[in-house]
Amino acid sequence: MKTFYVTTPIYYVNARPHLGHLYTTTIADTVTRFKRQRGFDVFFLTGTDEHGQKIEQAANKRQPQVDVKQHVDEIVAEYLDIFAQFGLNYDHWIRTTDDYHKEAVQELFRLTDKAGYIYKSHYEGWFCVGCSEFKEEEEAGKAPFCPLHDREAERVSEESYFFKLSAFQERLLNYYQENPNFIRPESRRNEIISFVKGGLKDLSVSRVSVKWGIPVPDDPAHTIYVWFDALSNYITALGWGNKTRSGFDKYWPADLQLVGKDILRFHTVYWPAFLMAAGLELPKTVYAHGMWLSGGRKISKELGNVIEPKILIKYFARDYIRYFCLREMVFGLDGDFTYEALINRVNSDLAKGLGNLVSRTLKMVEKYCQSLLPACPKAFSGEVAEKWQEEACQVRDLCLERSKVFENEFNDYNFSRALEAVWEIIARVDKYISDSAPWNLAKDASNQEQLETVLYTSLEALRYITVMLAPILPELSASIWSQMGLMDSPTNISPENLAWAELPSGNKIGEVKALFPTLDKEKLMAEITEEKKKMSENNTVAPVETVPATPETTETTATTPKVEVPPLRPTINIDDFAKIDLRVAQVLEAERVPKADKLLRLVVDVGEEKPRQILAGIAQYYTPEQMLGRKIVVIANLEPRKLRGLESQGMLLAASIGDEGKPVVAGFLEDVPNGARLK
Ligand code: MSP
Repeated sequence: MKTFYVTTPIYYVNARPHLGHLYTTTIADTVTRFKRQRGFDVFFLTGTDEHGQKIEQAANKRQPQVDVKQHVDEIVAEYLDIFAQFGLNYDHWIRTTDDYHKEAVQELFRLTDKAGYIYKSHYEGWFCVGCSEFKEEEEAGKAPFCPLHDREAERVSEESYFFKLSAFQERLLNYYQENPNFIRPESRRNEIISFVKGGLKDLSVSRVSVKWGIPVPDDPAHTIYVWFDALSNYITALGWGNKTRSGFDKYWPADLQLVGKDILRFHTVYWPAFLMAAGLELPKTVYAHGMWLSGGRKISKELGNVIEPKILIKYFARDYIRYFCLREMVFGLDGDFTYEALINRVNSDLAKGLGNLVSRTLKMVEKYCQSLLPACPKAFSGEVAEKWQEEACQVRDLCLERSKVFENEFNDYNFSRALEAVWEIIARVDKYISDSAPWNLAKDASNQEQLETVLYTSLEALRYITVMLAPILPELSASIWSQMGLMDSPTNISPENLAWAELPSGNKIGEVKALFPTLDKEKLMAEITEEKKKMSENNTVAPVETVPATPETTETTATTPKVEVPPLRPTINIDDFAKIDLRVAQVLEAERVPKADKLLRLVVDVGEEKPRQILAGIAQYYTPEQMLGRKIVVIANLEPRKLRGLESQGMLLAASIGDEGKPVVAGFLEDVPNGARLK
């Protein structure tokens, strides 16, 4: 049997479960169902990352005091509860505090040491507790500022074990070269390649000042670095290095490791280097997805735009949320989450689109065919004498062709495009029904064959659609299936085994129920607003710690900083302004400019034939990861100029704040096409 191993990152228990965690896990759950439907033996792993300084600190801050294990147990229980409510069907939940994991992490450490890649030395440098990452010094003696956590890194001076990451630069680059699918999407792959080309330093992999973690074998004064510990989960859960679990020979290397773009470097530089050092195979694909924003802003507790899983599940069917996650966000790019957008999607695609097609078709079967699935039309055995028979064949051909597109796009993890293909079938069948007007055909008994052809063709397309949608809408597709009078479950039917014209004629359809009632947007929004208010009053959802889990949750602050407003420049007229060509652009690539601590090199799409390169002095405040995929505003007709030997073909717009001129990059709340002019 073909196997498939899919993983999500393990979630830090320094924050309670939120939309970001649910998103990655929903994608993994959908991919699991998709592969299982196609006969794969799938193993789907998720879990929690429970060690490290920030978790220890959070537990110690609690009043009354609790021990760290109790603290993490409580948060893990919350994760398990939320994930169960969302119907996420993982095969194993790993906890880095599990004994088998600890034993195996020590084994991995031992093995890399034996292979000659670990040495003891002294670490003198900077560490950001928020990132659990050592930071480079940009100015001699000055603490580097972490833009993700809005604070300076801490000075650390201690004995440490080091991993010889520098020994892997060439091997990693060769691996990336030979395995183009290892890092996806392409833009992120380029970013990692240029990072590795810039040189790799050895990595400190133990801390003496951190106690909450796994001790270094034979030197328990040292605790293993939390990322070494966490990354190992992908193999320890399969029994590597321990006797408790099993599956390593069967499932490793992983087929798909899903991660957010903020943690891609750990997964595509450190992780493969650890595996190489231990002589283990590397995962086939690490796919970095984008971040959910809220109302065009980064999700942040202070801004009050956190998307609460408890609210989502209270007001929306879980299939609605799954559908929205896969359809709304282009996989790999950032996406905006608003309740309005979710309601709009449900109403337009599910209620009006799919739901309407199902109910109008089945109601006609009730009315014109005594609730029995009609006979297979002659058109499908090659008898195409009439125009209406030809039309039925056209609908069939479109359905079969779009099904292939769905399959290819999904296999390539282009979920939104895969779903677009399904909705093209829905739109085509809808039009076919409206054009054929079965209600008119029904007025004359001599049209019965034509009427049944229309209904059979529509039902057959619906059977295909339901099978395609089963991994995304598991509950709703099962209901459609039974309403259609079909046996078994769409989940168990591989699309490869579907053949057109095998709809079981004569089956009695089930009771026709409204599956997707249209949501009353105004009423629902009022209820959600009220519920949010109640929750924040009761403080039932306060995060464990104020250090946010991801860059996206960190940057914005609740109150706009007060700055002195600079005096206005002399008046210009409209013709002066018209000389400036401002355009919408999207960042395709982003990287730091070596030896220039302020500059980022961006490659942007301004809607022209070829992307442009621009240099932006924002590197102290924005990481390349934060800029990737963003829509920005560029002065497109600015004379090119050279900075550090690189040509800048334009300039990005940003607000400039305070004495330091801290930049805040301008962007849009709505989606806008690249190249659109601002005026
Ligand atoms: N513990 C580490 C991962 C270790 S894996 C060996 C970690 N945990 S996390 O809880 O902070 O983040 C887990 C995942 O959630 C990351 O992939 C991150 O990108 C994702 N998300 C967190 N916020 C998100 C959004 N707002 N939107 C989408 N995904 C987000 O990092």
